[in-house]
This record gives sequence, structure tokens and C-alpha cells, in this order.
Amino acid sequence: MTGVVVHAGGWGDGGWGWAMWLAMTIGMTAMLVTLLAIVWLIVRAVGPPREGGRSREDRALEELRVRYARGEISGESPTSDAGRCSRTSVVAPAEPDRAQAYDAWYETALGAAAHRIELRLVAALAAPGRGERALDAGCGTGIYTAWLLEQGLEVTGLDPDPAMLSAARVKVPEARLVEGDATMLPFAEGEFDLAVAVTLFCFLDGEERLVAARELLRVVRPGGRVVVGELARRSLWAAQRRVRGWRGSRTWRQAHFATAGELRQLFHNAGATAVSARYGLYLPPWDVTSFVSRAEAIERLGRPLGALGAAFVAARAEAGGGAAGATARV
Ligand SMILES: C[S@@+](CC[C@H](N)C(=O)[O-])C[C@H]1O[C@@H](n2cnc3c(N)ncnc32)[C@H](O)[C@@H]1O
Repeated sequence: MTGVVVHAGGWGDGGWGWAMWLAMTIGMTAMLVTLLAIVWLIVRAVGPPREGGRSREDRALEELRVRYARGEISGESPTSDAGRCSRTSVVAPAEPDRAQAYDAWYETALGAAAHRIELRLVAALAAPGRGERALDAGCGTGIYTAWLLEQGLEVTGLDPDPAMLSAARVKVPEARLVEGDATMLPFAEGEFDLAVAVTLFCFLDGEERLVAARELLRVVRPGGRVVVGELARRSLWAAQRRVRGWRGSRTWRQAHFATAGELRQLFHNAGATAVSARYGLYLPPWDVTSFVSRAEAIERLGRPLGALGAAFVAARAEAGGGAAGATARV
């Protein structure tokens, strides 16, 4: 009995202190482990899906390298920095064939779903009319050039990257394709009814963006419109691309992620009479069937969130005294 009292007294003096210390140590260790697990999960989540320790993009890039070494594909300027074009890390400027890699991404289930959603947004704002004259600035391999042609427009594509233009020539031989820079457009004032630029501004710096916006407004007629589609800032796609930038991708380190407000301001500063913008692409950046097959439902669920979670933002700017068209405001 006495022993029990002595034992209890022992806990009361030094024992409780030890118990508290032990509990705190265990608690803090658990918190630290949980924190590390959360960080690891976030890094896994924003990173590309991995199989066998290598991402799909790494494997796609490796395949391209092997094919390039075998002479099966060619890049006109494999080490040039001309393009600054990338949706995925496969398409870094120094890749053997930027154009082929760029188009290959659109053939993935995720790329196709994302493109469908982006194109719908651009189409709603551009409202292309048969017989109109359109410029596709930063046309790349001609994806939007081809779409504008299908809508019955007379289309000019412009890009500074010869490799991208070569691919566009194969895809859209009917289009007029011009090597040039959006900050110095080789076109007369009012030459077009519509100018489209999809994921071009994200690869320009701040001053270039303003100059390019002015140039696009200059080459569309009064009452014409400029429609841009850009990478939006507050999404998992942007987070993933920023992580790639931190991990060494020059393209993503330099890329600019936009907001609707910023695009409105940019085009107002460039002289537009009215600017409207919309967000879209709430689909997460994972090529996982359960997400991709529900892309449309995810889009409907995401829409009320506006900027939050949207990976794409499109804007329409009205040029010089034109009436505002049927566009929606954010
Ligand atoms: C991400 S790609 C987009 C291509 C195409 N608009 C599309 O959506 O598929 C960006 C394109 O912008 C072009 N580009 C980069 N800087 C440019 C500039 N200063 N003027 C015009 N195009 C430029 C690149 O060569 C590249 O083809």
C-alpha cells in the first residue's frame, strides 16, 4: 500500500513532468511528420503523373530525342530560343522538334479536353464571321489558324519561329503564313476584322505585352476586335508550371500568368474602347481518365468560382470606336 502511495507521489513530482515532455515530443513529431507528408503530397499533386519514376513528359521527350537522333524528325533550329512556346515542359526552346512535341500534347486526352474548353471560350468571344479577314498572331503550328479557316475566314498566321511556321505550312497550306513579331506587325492599319492571339502574351515581358496589344489593335479595323487567350494565374496548372520553373525550366521560369483584370487594364491602356473577359478550364492538369472524362461537368462546377482554379482566361478588346459585341463580363 505504502509502495503504491510512494509510486503515485513519484509521478506527481518528476513523473508528470516526464509524461508531459514525452507527450509533447510525440505530439510535435507527429505534427512534423504530418506537415512533411502534406508538403510531399502537394509536390506530388502539382507534379506530372509518374510511371516507373519518370513522368510521361520525360518519356515523350526521350522518345522525341531518340527519333531526332535517328533522323525520323527534324527541327530547323533545335538549339534556338526563337520559339518560347510551351504548354508542357516537353516543348522547351532547346527541344529537337518543338512543333511536333507541341502538337503531340494536343493528342493526349488531357490536351484534347483542355483545347476543346479553351477553343470554346475563344470562339465565344471572337464570334468569327464567314468572309472576315483574321490574323492569328503567335500562330505556332496553326491550331487556331486551322480553326479560323474552317469558320470560313481569310486567315493570316504570324510567328517568329521557323520550326513552328513549317509545321503550320503543312497543316494549313491555304493560310498566308508570315514570319514576324507581334510587337512589330508587318501589316497595315485596319487590315483585319479580327486578330486572335492564344498563349502569346504569356511569353512576352511587360513592355512587349503593351506594345503587342497596341499593334494588334492597330491592325484591326475600327469596330474590329482582338481576342487573346492566356494562362490564368490561380490554378493548379499555373502552380505546376511554376514548380517546373523553380526546377529549372527556363520557359516556365519566364512565363507570365494573367488575370482578367490585368488583361482588361492592358487593352484599355493600349487604346481599346471596351474589354471583356472570361475564365475557364477548371479541369486539373492530370491526364487521368476519371477527371478527363468528366471535363465538361468539372467545367460547369468550376464556372461560379471565376478566377479561382481557372487555368485559362480569354479577353476581347474592341478596336477604335467599334460597338461592343455580344460578350460576357467576368
Ligand atoms: C504557346 S505557343 C501558342 C501557339 C498557338 N497560338 C496555339 O495556341 O496553339 C506560343 C507561340 O507564340 C510565338 N511567339 C513567341 N514570341 C512571339 C512574338 N514576339 N511575336 C509573335 N509570336 C511569338 C511562339 O513562337 C509560339 O509559336
